[in-house]
Amino acid sequence: LRVLVTAGGTREPIDSVRYVGNRSSGRMGVALAAEAARRGAEVTLVAANVSLPPPEGVRLGKVETAAELADACGEEFARADVLLMAAAVADFRPASPQQDKIKKAGRTGVSLELEPTDDVLSGLAAGRRPGQTLVGFAAEHGPDAAARAREKLERKGLDAVVVNDVSRPEIGFDAEVNEISIVTAADEEEVALASKAEIAAAVIDRVEALRVGEGTTLGR
Ligand code: CTP
Repeated sequence: LRVLVTAGGTREPIDSVRYVGNRSSGRMGVALAAEAARRGAEVTLVAANVSLPPPEGVRLGKVETAAELADACGEEFARADVLLMAAAVADFRPASPQQDKIKKAGRTGVSLELEPTDDVLSGLAAGRRPGQTLVGFAAEHGPDAAARAREKLERKGLDAVVVNDVSRPEIGFDAEVNEISIVTAADEEEVALASKAEIAAAVIDRVEALRVGEGTTLGR
């Protein structure tokens, strides 16, 4: 069984040395890749600016921007049975990045115009084939997180959305631990505060359960 995992956060260039980025460390995606490989899957990890070592036995593709991540996933997705889209992909990028470094001299400020990026996950989901399981990840603030995640599941055409509450500083982005809910069309499962390795195991258990009808589990 082939599993495609994205991890980390994309960086969108402002000029030759600066970028618009986010706080994702890639820990959740790396933990998911490690757990899927441990269970016997053939795993490809598309890592956006991740400084952690890749798990053993995992094929690694490195990317920087949302566009590079889209290209890398576009090549791999057709072969994948499971997509775990844990990367924090930029929703907007500088509209006209400078080739060289923007100089301070003679400027009183710099305005940055941002343009939307393509939604990689929605694009992949639009071309999905039967038998594929697609999992999105959502960073939400406060209550109603599950309802918004279910709306995302439907809008993006996914099988599950893993939600975490980014209004709590101790979990999620750039943290060792996480506390999540896994939202599917049928139900919602809460996974209590745990290490990212334990959270990854819970997510993959859920994927295995969703795939019972497909005839292939992660070990095969
Ligand atoms: N995603 C993507 N391409 C983007 C943006 C997000 O593939 N340009 C994916 C992420 O990898 C994640 C899911 O979509 O799996 C998150 O959906 P999104 O609607 O971006 O969630 P939030 O970032 O929580 O969005 P919003 O701020 O709109 O609530």
